[in-house]
Amino acid sequence: MSDSVVQYLYLISAVLFIFGLKGLTKVKSARRGNQISAMAMLLAVIATFIEMNGAGAVSLQWIIAGLVIGGGIGAFLAVSVKMTSMPEMVAFFNGSGGIASALVALSNLWFLVIEPAAGKTAAQTFNNGDGGAAAITTVLSIVVGAVTLSGSVVAWGKLAGWMPDQPVLLPGRHFINLLLLGGSLGCGGYALFTLTDGSQVGMFAAISLVLSLLLGVGLVIGIGGADMPVVISLLNSYSGVAASMTGFVLGNKVLIISGALVGASGLILTYIMCVAMNRTLTNVLFGGFGAADVQGGPQGGRDYGPVRSGGPEEAAMLLEAAETVAVVPGYGLAVAQAQHTIRELSDLLQKDGKTVTYGIHPVAGRMPGHMNVLLAEADVPYDQLLEMDTINPEFKNTDVCIVLGANDVVNPAAIKDPASPIAGMPILTVHEAGTVIVIKRSLSPGFAKIKNELFEYKNTMMLFADAKKALQEMIKEYKDL
Ligand code: TAP
Repeated sequence: MSDSVVQYLYLISAVLFIFGLKGLTKVKSARRGNQISAMAMLLAVIATFIEMNGAGAVSLQWIIAGLVIGGGIGAFLAVSVKMTSMPEMVAFFNGSGGIASALVALSNLWFLVIEPAAGKTAAQTFNNGDGGAAAITTVLSIVVGAVTLSGSVVAWGKLAGWMPDQPVLLPGRHFINLLLLGGSLGCGGYALFTLTDGSQVGMFAAISLVLSLLLGVGLVIGIGGADMPVVISLLNSYSGVAASMTGFVLGNKVLIISGALVGASGLILTYIMCVAMNRTLTNVLFGGFGAADVQGGPQGGRDYGPVRSGGPEEAAMLLEAAETVAVVPGYGLAVAQAQHTIRELSDLLQKDGKTVTYGIHPVAGRMPGHMNVLLAEADVPYDQLLEMDTINPEFKNTDVCIVLGANDVVNPAAIKDPASPIAGMPILTVHEAGTVIVIKRSLSPGFAKIKNELFEYKNTMMLFADAKKALQEMIKEYKDL
């Protein structure tokens, strides 16, 4: 098949990636967006296969072995992962993408320069002697790919609990990281632009790889476990940059484009998460939150005056009297896996002519879109999911608001207390509703480890229970009324 057909396939694939991403920007079209992106990936793989086959570089048994092993691991993880462990899984994928980019760049270097020991530098060898740009992107593939791998492993370890959650703040860590960055780029550049002896090129490229791996650890180990979702989003962006660089190394346009798309979208997502938490990226990356000295501390979040509490029967009576009900889900919904039960309750309420909406905070839960994914799993109609800016003006006209395992995203301290660690974070203003039913197991704090004065408000009723159990009992009581 001619080269132009392969290039057309790459072009179609790149366009499909863009449409896929566009689809992912809306809840309604997200599933379709995902399918389009998967199609684009399949097309890119087929086109690459045709191209490589034409160049006589295909060894089918290795490709099949890779497909079976990689596909098997991916399918197993996708089916078995719990929704609350999704950030760890994304970290794993980012790390895999990073190391794949670094290995492809290294193998290109190996086959073209190290093994033949051609007596020329890599920059002179690549692209028939015009390989300066290819040499630069090779170094960047190795460095960014390796940083992504080791950074993702640390992020994964912190989230999964097999590494300390607290930031490890080594003295002079910024200086050490700067040295590692300089060392990894310097050794890589020296190997590819100056050395002509194959074994020396290999040795310095390996040193660059090792320093980059240490840099990834150094960059992420100083960040608290609580900030890992933002770090993972940033590492996702890095993995895209590494892939894009590898695209330049291989001269593969679709890899350049798809890597750039991942790099840019990861960066935009990181920015959105920072804005929704009212944090700057520098504040996330260089500490200040999640460290042991966070104001309030774990126990600080338990210091409450009198709070009103009630049971499922009282909650059911409040719902019966209400005409408009809003549900605000949070991390506790994911822990309790209560998405199907809340759907059942809201169906009952709607059957009785009540209006039910869901207020979605951009950082509710522990990953972007966490609540959307859970509610979509329970087939909650998309038009009932309202974004923060849409639902906030409506709380004044809402009779009952059910806060379901959410805490920080409804904490009025964010807008009322300038000294609060979450001051300035946009919140869902549920306290403006007629009555607020807060379903959680105790007065324990949420992710930010601070007190939530909403629990002391006169229009708040605490229902202390596991979210799923509380909803099941409320459904029973409501039916019995
Ligand atoms: P949180 O503030 O973390 O509060 C969750 C609450 O759920 C806890 O107070 C907990 O109280 C309750 N809970 C846990 N298990 C439960 C269960 N089985 N049944 C009922 N309740 C349960 O959650 P949020 O309001 O969703 O806020 C998210 C936080 O994560 C924000 O601070 C945000 O900045 C941060 N964050 C989010 C992201 C993304 S992208 N979503 C990324 C980084 C950080 P009990 O233990 O008393 O039950």
